[in-house]
Amino acid sequence: METILFRDTAEDISAAAELIKNGEVVGIPTETVYGLGADACNEKAVKAVFAAKGRPADNPLIVHIADFSQASLYTASVPALAYKLAERFCPGPLTMVLPKNEKIPMITSGGLDTVGIRVPSHPVMHSIIERSGCPIAAPSANISGLPSPTCAEHVMEDMNGRIAAVLDGGKSEFGVESTVISLDGDESVRILRPGAVTKEMLLEVCRNVIIDPAILRELKDGERAVSPGMKYKHYSPKADVVMVEGELDDFKNFISQNNGDGVYSLIFDGDEAEFPYRYFTYGADSSEQAHWLFQRLRELDEIGAEKVYVRAPLKDGIGLAVYNRLIRAAGFEVIRI
Ligand code: TXA
Ligand code: MG
Repeated sequence: METILFRDTAEDISAAAELIKNGEVVGIPTETVYGLGADACNEKAVKAVFAAKGRPADNPLIVHIADFSQASLYTASVPALAYKLAERFCPGPLTMVLPKNEKIPMITSGGLDTVGIRVPSHPVMHSIIERSGCPIAAPSANISGLPSPTCAEHVMEDMNGRIAAVLDGGKSEFGVESTVISLDGDESVRILRPGAVTKEMLLEVCRNVIIDPAILRELKDGERAVSPGMKYKHYSPKADVVMVEGELDDFKNFISQNNGDGVYSLIFDGDEAEFPYRYFTYGADSSEQAHWLFQRLRELDEIGAEKVYVRAPLKDGIGLAVYNRLIRAAGFEVIRI
């Protein structure tokens, strides 16, 4: 199949929406990362999404809607807290896991009786949902296990020939996927995947925010994943990634002892003065690091890096999301110095 590259024009947006309406899979821009969009209620279309990604069937897809008022169309109930959260964070990078109703097929929810609902803020994505007239199921538009795509070229790299089209809506603003939460009673939420809606921000609306412990460590043998995505290898480039936690001087010292052919460092902007080793930088603060991380991981592959030592990011604010992606890219290999 030939994959069409659409531009950010009214005509192309309508054409992309039309394809989705007709059961095709299209790479679409969002403010977090690019998604692989299909009609969430069309089993055949959703099946094609799983096939294009090579995604395990038990890992559910997020359903994207144009306005949170439509959540009740696809869920069995919407608690008051969900509306409160939506008022503050929708549209935006937040996904709420809610009990699903029969309109969402089991294949979309990976066999679960819940569905992740998100209202994206990207204007192009918003128009595509409105014009297609369907809720859009969309996982990140990468081949399963690879870094998520933050621009149309990344989607083309992974999906050319596998899907009907990609719409180029520019570079994704945040660069990491949405914050996924489940709701627990009237006042409490649990973060299943950290993102740009941070714990501190959620605490403005909820009394209690639990960070699921599996966000920062590997699942233990036999431990049940509260979110199926936690079980799988993620965000991994071909290079062997290792995260190194420590001050800059310790990091430099570590590299001096572990340098060799094919070894690269991924450091902060500002670390590079007197850094006499091969390196890429991924931003000066957590927001920049979120924005650049996946692109840098792809670039390190292009250049043929074999081993990448990453200077570990801070773990507060959106930094927790960056840390969470990196620890998975590193297969939980962290060196503390
Ligand atoms: O920002 C995003 O969320 C992007 C854009 C395209 O919207 N989408 C995305 O989808 O990251 P995906 O499929 O790559 O990641 C969704 C994550 C997975 O880890 C999945 O297990 C979890 O959300 N998830 C989805 N539905 C869930 C549910 N009903 N219960 C628990 N976890 C769920
Ligand atoms: Mg993904």
